[in-house]
Amino acid sequence: MRTKLAAGNWKMNGLKASLSELEGMAEAAKGVSEVLICPPATLVAAAADAASGDIAIGGQDCHASESGAHTGDVSAGMLKDAGASYVILGHSERRTDHDEHNEHVRAKCKAAWEAGLTVVLCVGESLAEREASNTLDIIGGQLATSVPDGATGHNLVVAYEPIWAIGTGKVPTTDQIGEVHDFMRARLEKRFGAGVGRSVRLLYGGSVKGSNAEEIFAVSNVDGALVGGASLKAADFVPIIEALNAAAG
Ligand code: PGA
Repeated sequence: MRTKLAAGNWKMNGLKASLSELEGMAEAAKGVSEVLICPPATLVAAAADAASGDIAIGGQDCHASESGAHTGDVSAGMLKDAGASYVILGHSERRTDHDEHNEHVRAKCKAAWEAGLTVVLCVGESLAEREASNTLDIIGGQLATSVPDGATGHNLVVAYEPIWAIGTGKVPTTDQIGEVHDFMRARLEKRFGAGVGRSVRLLYGGSVKGSNAEEIFAVSNVDGALVGGASLKAADFVPIIEALNAAAG
């Protein structure tokens, strides 16, 4: 059985005062689903202190090196030291803003695993790629190249985030989500074996809200969500956590 995961990606949002939102999420986080919040790096340590044990904390990126002359970067070990247990890697905003390619993501993933972090690895197609019917090719290529050997159900979570659905209010149909999630499951089982392939959790991300969470969580092979905008406030995130708890129950 895969434990469902409600993951919040705060992106470049949040000051110390925002940590009070974690209190509002704490009660819902006591349910059967795991709850994860990935605040900006400046808040990881304080968030880990503020979060009850019921909310896991993660980073949003890490460098591929353990330490060294990389001004402005944060290593996986630093995130771990600050109290993180997860890190998001390969988010499309990183791929675009920082020209990150699959090979970079793969190197970062290895570094994160060495530091003992669980990786939420993001894949997803652009609108042009979907319209050209290339979605599964793109996702397959991203999975093959971004994920290093050695994946397990504990160290890897994959998030399918169609780029055109992120922050736009546009959501794929449940058939489109199901097609990609079934495909990812099959690819992971083929590469890592049925046991590992079946234990890796697959999240959907892109404009998830309280109002659409239930139908998304009913799709096969959807084990939770990676949520941006609707994870910033407890009032928006709690209904998503509750929908996931209901789907798990
Ligand atoms: P969104 O972002 O929920 O605001 O669309 C999702 C994400 O980028 O992880």
